[in-house]
Amino acid sequence: MIGQPGAGKGTQARLLSDKCNYPQISTGDLLRNIVSSDSPMAHELRETMNSGRLVDDGILASLLSERTSQADCQGGYILDGYPRNLHQAQTLEDLAASQAKSVVLISFSLDEDVLLKRITGRRTCTRCGEIYNIFSRPPAVEGYCDIDGAPLARRGDDSETVVRERLAAYRNSTAPLIAYYRDTSRLIEVDAGQPVDQVQKRIIEILGSLPGQSA
Ligand code: AP5
Repeated sequence: MIGQPGAGKGTQARLLSDKCNYPQISTGDLLRNIVSSDSPMAHELRETMNSGRLVDDGILASLLSERTSQADCQGGYILDGYPRNLHQAQTLEDLAASQAKSVVLISFSLDEDVLLKRITGRRTCTRCGEIYNIFSRPPAVEGYCDIDGAPLARRGDDSETVVRERLAAYRNSTAPLIAYYRDTSRLIEVDAGQPVDQVQKRIIEILGSLPGQSA
């Protein structure tokens, strides 16, 4: 799944994972786990992510190879936020070929003024990662997760200045992937401005109509 920051990739990837029983692999979450650890890489990654730039392709390739080699990925997996440039797309082609899997790109698009509001309102569970929004999906108890009661937090890279950098990274590096996957007939385009359940319905319908699928 690719799309602008705040377009709803994480929200939809989690729903699809529950529905289809494929693990959701968010490269943003994998990187944030390293940032919150004592790893020697943490400082450098934090700096890159808090500036809104993309993290080095080689780091992503190792993380992805390691995560997708785990047993729960054998039947397939949902990548949330990968690939983000043509080099990563090529890495994914090689990885998928070595795992006898095929790749379909789901591309989310949304007006920029809407996504800025979504990002401002986003709150994420500090324990399980559940995604809320104070405008469109507030928790039952303000500031706490409905699922496990842990505190909710805003992300460090959700300030307006950093979001503008993340948007620029999307436009310059990630958006060209749409043509790459369209040219090879592996593109699903989603209007991310629809309500969450409508977006999910559309994704499931299209995935279910692909040859050999029954989502
Ligand atoms: P990452 O964590 O992937 O951030 P992102 O791509 O900018 O996307 P977001 O997580 O901000 O948004 P989302 O589309 O998942 O939206 P969400 O569902 O939360 O990456 C962070 C950083 O890590 C990058 O900047 C980069 O530095 C690095 N990185 C990650 N992957 C990398 C890679 N492959 N290569 C290099 N660097 C990488 O929804 C947003 C809000 O809207 C929520 O509050 C939600 O409740 C609400 N919402 C969702 N859908 C709807 C809807 N339909 N209607 C109303 N509200 C909605």
